[in-house]
Amino acid sequence: MNNLHNVKRGNSSIRSLLYSLYYAMAKICFKAGIIIIVGVVFAFWFSAAQETEEFSQSAAPAQVSSGSSQPKIDGIVEEQEYPQNLSLEEDSFVVYWKNDHEFLYMALKAKTTGWIAIGFEPTSRMRDADMIFGWVEDGQATLLDLYSTGSTGPHPPDEELGGTNDIIEFEGSEKDGYTIIEFKRKMDTGDRYDKVLIPGQTLNFIWAMATSDSFNRKHNILNRQAKLTLGKEEVESAQAWMDIELKDVRTGEQFKVSDFKGRPILLEVFAVWCPTCLSQQKEMQKLKEKGGDTVVRISLNMDPNEGEAKVRKHIEEHGLDWYFAISPPELTKALIDEVGLAILSAPLSPVILICEDQSVRLLPGGVKSAEALVSEIEKGCKNVN
Ligand code: HEM
Repeated sequence: MNNLHNVKRGNSSIRSLLYSLYYAMAKICFKAGIIIIVGVVFAFWFSAAQETEEFSQSAAPAQVSSGSSQPKIDGIVEEQEYPQNLSLEEDSFVVYWKNDHEFLYMALKAKTTGWIAIGFEPTSRMRDADMIFGWVEDGQATLLDLYSTGSTGPHPPDEELGGTNDIIEFEGSEKDGYTIIEFKRKMDTGDRYDKVLIPGQTLNFIWAMATSDSFNRKHNILNRQAKLTLGKEEVESAQAWMDIELKDVRTGEQFKVSDFKGRPILLEVFAVWCPTCLSQQKEMQKLKEKGGDTVVRISLNMDPNEGEAKVRKHIEEHGLDWYFAISPPELTKALIDEVGLAILSAPLSPVILICEDQSVRLLPGGVKSAEALVSEIEKGCKNVN
């Protein structure tokens, strides 16, 4: 202040006090003015972004954000949900699949109301096939992770052989004489009774179906030499921004968003000066008690006028104990591309949910309570209205 107004030492303390008051008021008004203007501009952008998002969701239900949408495991195969499919025996058996380097999403649709199954990489007939076997009875789907030990079976559940059931999600439906089973598993489950799947690999498989739901009833239709090629594009187009190196202001350690793949992540955008951001962080602080103990919390500072020292002081002042980083410009830009300009509006408490498969969803604007955050995490990233 003294520099700006060139107040000479020795001037009356009242005058100096008045200057101080004037300057402080001007600073507050100036800042408040900017906040209001910025708030209004971004509120407009935000609502525009929300409208666009709602529109694109209804137009293409499987799309979450470009390059990141994954099939929804709901027993229904939507158009465009799977990039690849293979129709066998004149549509009697259709395999749909999508994968990245971590997960395989697959749906089987067969012309039967009995069981349907697929077996990966048998060595001869059924032997050593890593099988997924399922049926739908009274609207209820059952899916089993099996391994065939002999060329005509048996094919017990992996657990009975000392392995594990590695179907992460499954669902099924039965309609007009067709059964669909849909599931998600890891490409490499770590179970010796599951084949390790590699992006780009040509996978040999057998498939079969029966007219009955009974696990012991033999197939009436089968095929022993089908092949499909697993996708590799997804790996190449995985969001590069998740691999941008960040520095945790609290501990000084380096980390990347992709380090937490497999866990839900809340990526909050904040500025130190922003009171709603602090309210949002107080809610994030309560997450552990409210059932959000597996969630990874990352707060990103995007205000170019702040910096590590201010952020560190803010963390210490409010006892915050998760990842805090200054967003590098390339990350800020990538996030705008990913979810829109709304993330720049700190007063709207932008929080991005990154799901276990690293698909992404911008949560609704405004301060979200810890309970609301937990429920958003449970809803996931796909097909959420
Ligand atoms: C209740 C379950 C099952 C029983 C009792 C069973 C039984 C048999 C038997 C006895 C054979 C010898 C050939 C024949 O008699 O047709 C056979 C062959 C075969 N089964 Fe199964 N199987 C069962 C499930 C499955 C499943 C789930 C698959 C695929 C995922 C499958 C795929 C095959 C294939 C590819 C052959 C070889 C056919 C050939 O070489 O011509 N089976 N099965």
